[in-house]
Parts: sequence; structure tokens; C-alpha cells
Amino acid sequence: MHLTEEEKSFLAGEHGAGVKKAMEILVAFGKIFEAQKMIPVASAQVAGVSYKNIGDPGLEFLTDWAKIGAKARIPAFMNPAGIDRAIWEELGIDEHFAEKQTEIINVLTQMDIIPTLTCTPYHIGYTPSFGQHIAWSESSAVSYANSVLGARTNREGGPSALASAITGRTPEFGLHLAENRKANYIIDVKCKVSSLRDFNLLGYLIGKQVGNGIPYFYGLDLPELEWKRTNCLKALGAAMAASGAVALYHIHNETPESKQMKEGMIATDAKKINILELQAALSEQKYDENQLDLVTIGCPHLSIEELKEIMHMIQGKNLKTELWLTTSFQVRKQAEEEGVVDIIKKAGGTVISDTCMVVAPLKELGLKYVAVNSAKAACYLPSHQEMTTYWGSTEQCIESALEGRWKF
Ligand code: F3S
Repeated sequence: MHLTEEEKSFLAGEHGAGVKKAMEILVAFGKIFEAQKMIPVASAQVAGVSYKNIGDPGLEFLTDWAKIGAKARIPAFMNPAGIDRAIWEELGIDEHFAEKQTEIINVLTQMDIIPTLTCTPYHIGYTPSFGQHIAWSESSAVSYANSVLGARTNREGGPSALASAITGRTPEFGLHLAENRKANYIIDVKCKVSSLRDFNLLGYLIGKQVGNGIPYFYGLDLPELEWKRTNCLKALGAAMAASGAVALYHIHNETPESKQMKEGMIATDAKKINILELQAALSEQKYDENQLDLVTIGCPHLSIEELKEIMHMIQGKNLKTELWLTTSFQVRKQAEEEGVVDIIKKAGGTVISDTCMVVAPLKELGLKYVAVNSAKAACYLPSHQEMTTYWGSTEQCIESALEGRWKF
């Protein structure tokens, strides 16, 4: 692999042991994927922050790296952690867990990784531009950056994203190369797909069928309102990344690479899939009880507009089941300033930041039955948290929280 003089000096340890280790990781990755060279990246999004996921071995790995002087040289930010830093006690999180989680956040902060603790950095101003190379790791954020913004990133692991943060480089392979960004599946959507729920169902179905392929959609009708459009695209990408491993999709005449290249973004041997209805996504859902411990919305993390929409649904009412709405602390701060958090609180809901239903220790809180509106959360909760998970529309989730039982 060709390395520049500066990259060679990183590898030789001339910029410290922390940079040397980062460069060694990237070179090893580059060799595995036959990259010809390194390329500069504009930002890094680092996953593997939750103590629930990385435990003591992960904390030790990060601490050792920080001790040898590793620091980010480009804007780099953190994925959600296992606690809400402000209200973890109120949520009943164990003190030991909170201490360990705080240690992880502190070590990463020491490495100059910004504690954004969100999977939707694009809602708080970390928005890469078209064609920009980045190294992001959370799967829904990767999908959004690649597909909706037209930036270029592979689906990085925590250590490789951190190594990119420290060196400002990534090996050039995969989705960094234009020739690898063409769709290998044509999805002809012949049924109505308009609500957030529909986009979740569609994403779930397509992810299962295409695995790590790149779909090109025809027949999608996106909402006109900008924030609703964003919300649907965010949900579609998150769902395909969870039921499959889709890191990039195109929508005819909607997403930037399709707008620019039209059918030029489709590989000549692309396979065709027709979608006639969405109900097949629900065929595996069989609930024989309706007990409900928690309703949680915000996978991926909510925007301020989504929070307000939910606020209007519950304003002046009394929730019978706990409702968690997860977002970044910046969005929560804005919601506090605009009185949104107070109204949600009065109805019995909680706006939670820094964490989510998948990476917080929900099982340890004794919660067993949870309802979600997100395909991604519905995919992960049964395996990651061993919970009975009901999956419905936002409206169905809110109605269930108001009634205190899952509404089939
Ligand atoms: Fe984000 Fe957690 Fe979902 S990190 S995409 S809210 S699983």
C-alpha cells in the first residue's frame, strides 16, 4: 500500500505511540481489503461507547490507548453510551454501571473525542458534505451519511473509527470508491409507502432480502415536509442496516447520487425485487400477551420536530406506562428551553439523552415488555436485551402507553 511521507512517520512512531498504534490498525485493515492508499477523512463517529457493550476489556483497551498519548486530530464524536449523564439515578441505573460508563466517556474525552453521545450527529450540526470522505461507525448514521448526504464512509468498527480520528486517515476501499457505490438491487415499490411506519416496514423487508447489498428504489413517495422526509429516510436506512447490513441506498431522483447520475448508479447486473405489500414484515410478530413495562421511541435519536410531534400527542393526558423518548443532549436542551420537556414530563414521559433502549442496561432494570416504533429497535431488543418487544406505529405506541397495555 502506498503511504505518504507523513503516514510513514505516523507508522514509525515519530508522532507518538498512540498515533503509531492507530496507523498500524489502519494499515492492517487496508491490507485485508487490498486498499492501494490511505485517504484523509473529515470526521469520525466512534461507536463502542456503552459499557454494556464493551465492558471492562473495552475500557482497558481505551485507557491503554489514551495513556500513550492518542488524541483526535479531526472532528470526532461519540455514539450513545449506556446512561443519561444527567438523570441516570432517576432512571434506576446501577451506580457501578454508571461509574464505569463515566470512565469510558472520560477516557474518550481525554482523547479529544467530543461526547455528543448520539447516533444522529447530523441533527446537531455534524453534517458531512457531498463526496466528503468520513469514518463513521454507527450503522444508521453510516447509512444516512452515505445515502442522504452523499458522503463516503464504510461501516467502521469502534477501534478503526478511533484510529481514523487519531490519524485523520482511512484506507481507501469499499464505499470510498465510486465504482463500489452502484446499486446491485433494483427495488420497484408498487404499493403505497408514505408514513414513518411504512418506511420502517419497507426497510425491514429489504434489509432481509439484500443483506449487505446496495438497493436502488423506484416508486417511493417521500413526505414534502423536510423534517418528515428526513425522518422517513433515517428510519428506512436504520431498518435496512439492522435486518440486513445495508450501508448505502439510492432513491430515484431523491438521494444525491441518483439525482446526479440517475440510472448510472445501477450496476448492469443488478437483481430486481418487486414490493407489492408491506405486511410480510409483520409475519414473524406473534404476541400472546399485552403486558407493557416501557414504551420507548427514538431509535435513531429524535430530532426536535419529532419530539414536538410526540409532545402534541400526549399533551394534557396521563400516561399509564413509562415513556422514554431518546435523543441527544443538545436536542433535549433545546426542548427544555422551548418548554417541550416540561409538557412531556407532566404527561408522565421522560426525555432521555446520551443513551437508547438498545445500549442502556434495560434488562438489569427489570423491564421485560417494551414497545417501539422502530424496526431497528425491534430487531435488536429481543437479542440484546432479551425482552418481549412489540413493534407498532408511533401512534400505536403512544396509545398503548396511555392505556398501560399493548394495543394489538
Ligand atoms: Fe441509535 Fe441506539 Fe437505535 S444507537 S440507531 S438509538 S440502537
